[in-house]
Amino acid sequence: MSLLRIRLFGDPVLRQEAREVDSFDDRLRRLAGDMLETMRDAPGVGLAAPQVGVLKRLFTFEFPGLEEDEPGEHGAVANPRLVDSSEQLEEGDEGCLSFPGLFYPVERPLHVEIAWQDLHGEEHTRQLSSFEARVWLHEMDHLDGILFIDHLARHDRREAMKLMRQYRKEHGVDMPGQGRMANLLLGGGGGGGS
Ligand code: NI
Repeated sequence: MSLLRIRLFGDPVLRQEAREVDSFDDRLRRLAGDMLETMRDAPGVGLAAPQVGVLKRLFTFEFPGLEEDEPGEHGAVANPRLVDSSEQLEEGDEGCLSFPGLFYPVERPLHVEIAWQDLHGEEHTRQLSSFEARVWLHEMDHLDGILFIDHLARHDRREAMKLMRQYRKEHGVDMPGQGRMANLLLGGGGGGGS
């Protein structure tokens, strides 16, 4: 397995629509394994394929255990589709590995039902609530080129974009998609990004 380079806000690949996964082969499973490793290393609770420059409808996630010594849950999700969502919303702080160190409150549906496929192409549906729903919805947005700042009020969105411009400048990230970014993100602070 190997660590992949996480693309930062400003990289055009983050704004593109990803394509359906249609080959559930070893290559896909290797990509998912690398994404999981990259996500944990960052560290984050979710990572979508476009964030590592791959325009496939695939993301990885990791939920912590309920108690500190309880194992969490992790996995890979292909071709997710929102089946149902509650009218009731919940606000919670959100971050994103493509926006290192930034967190803003975002409103999301409290309950959702999502249909998806595993890495062997098997179909599943799952109901998620609160934090877990938030993580999956955030990652699903990435597959349509939507970023969490798109859900913010204009003031917060402008501030986030300004802070990211500064971040890129301070870290010498001049052009989208250039090599130094990966190293900069490794060991970067703050959990909870996705
Ligand atoms: Ni994200």
